[in-house]
Amino acid sequence: NAQDVPEKYRPQFHFSPKAHWMNDPNGMLFHNGTYHLFYQYYPEAKIWGPMHWGHATSKDMVHWKEQPIALYPDNLGYIFSGSAVADVNNTSGFGKDGKTPLVAIFTHHNPVLEKQKTGRHEYQSIAYSLDDGVTWTKYSGNPVLPNPGITDFRDPKVRWYEPQKKWIMTLATKDRITFYSSPDLKSWSKESEFGADAGAHGGVWECPDLLPLTHEGKQVWLLIVNINPGGPNKGSAGQYFLGDFDGKTFTAYSKETKWLDWGADNYAAVTFSNTGNRSLLMGWMSNWQYANQVPTDPWRSANTISRELGLKTVGKELYLTSVPARELESIKGEGYSKKNLTVKAPVDLAPKGGNASGLFRLDLKTATAGDFELVLSNKTGNELLIGYDKASNQYYIDRSKSGKIDFEAGFGQKHTAPRLSKDGKIALTLVADVASVELFADGGLTVMTDIFFADTPLSDLTIKSAKGIQVEEVQYHVLKPSIE
Ligand code: FRU
Repeated sequence: NAQDVPEKYRPQFHFSPKAHWMNDPNGMLFHNGTYHLFYQYYPEAKIWGPMHWGHATSKDMVHWKEQPIALYPDNLGYIFSGSAVADVNNTSGFGKDGKTPLVAIFTHHNPVLEKQKTGRHEYQSIAYSLDDGVTWTKYSGNPVLPNPGITDFRDPKVRWYEPQKKWIMTLATKDRITFYSSPDLKSWSKESEFGADAGAHGGVWECPDLLPLTHEGKQVWLLIVNINPGGPNKGSAGQYFLGDFDGKTFTAYSKETKWLDWGADNYAAVTFSNTGNRSLLMGWMSNWQYANQVPTDPWRSANTISRELGLKTVGKELYLTSVPARELESIKGEGYSKKNLTVKAPVDLAPKGGNASGLFRLDLKTATAGDFELVLSNKTGNELLIGYDKASNQYYIDRSKSGKIDFEAGFGQKHTAPRLSKDGKIALTLVADVASVELFADGGLTVMTDIFFADTPLSDLTIKSAKGIQVEEVQYHVLKPSIE
């Protein structure tokens, strides 16, 4: 029985908690050489419950070490999602003896008020750390932003806006984003709203992010808005808008939704704060549609790898791109590279004898934008299919035969994503762990993240193409485990 293998679905280079339930990444922050990852955590069961902020640290966003819980629920409520900043100017006054205070800004979700249906059970609070994120003290004046009468009022993402020397909070407020500003992280005033008439509205808006990117020397603001349900392949997903921000108002270039990731398993993705010119994104690698049912034990959920964000134009349209952060190179193991393969019948891409761990990175470049299919498989008969279909101009991931799928009716599906690039060649990177694949096509213009639960590792890899295709170059590398 495959269940006899302990932790057989345990991700090896994606962060997952040792035990119990995890959802959104929270308070991601780089400070003094350490990346901090906090996360929605319920330490008493494998299902969602009263939320805490779990904590993990890393020097490179690849090797993670779990730390003691950072924030516990209190009489103001559960600790829902939020962000963290390094208050280098000590605007909050929490600093002491020249120590930079780290400040976490989060939602308190009050289950008592929720039951009373006051409609005011979510409000924003803060906590600070004077020991580089090890221990946290909640502010005695919480909450710092009371609820004005909006049932969904949560997930504050805060950043410093240098031109006006103030903090900007981007908050998910049911069917729109509300921006607030503050000189000191303690008193907040409303600046503006965005989105009641823009984007996808198949579900509630959650976990937003607002950040500047640079494109051809010009500043472009990215607004990320996670939505659940209503994603392009059902359930939870992240949409984004590009536009301008002047310290008060976000003006989108277009009101139409673009999707950050077309797979089913990248939710609540937001960026690390305090990373200088780099914008680094990480999401929760699950979907509310089945997150509480996935067959892992004794934990539930993992995060995506860190991705570096950029911008790219296709025709007249500007898009966000995401590619694996370069730090992933640090776990590259044995590999090979080959040039000019003619593919029709299946061609073996795995190293001789297969790759027992199933962990790998594949970089592939085709000579033409034609059909092909990658088959990740094992001797147990599980198959995960990843490919490009020219007729529909779509990439796809089909996990219908990938192993255990019966824990939820909608899990074993084929997911599709449009190819946005017009390049005559396809270049893609595929990153595979024990229970996930992340596809970055065309320089990160189309991204898909899907989890799966194979009975044994997917140690074999082939490529085929019914119509035939020329592969210009393929690089395959085994990846090494990196989680302590
Ligand atoms: C998103 C979310 C957030 C909320 C948190 C609760 O997945 O619903 O909006 O803060 O999870 O755990």
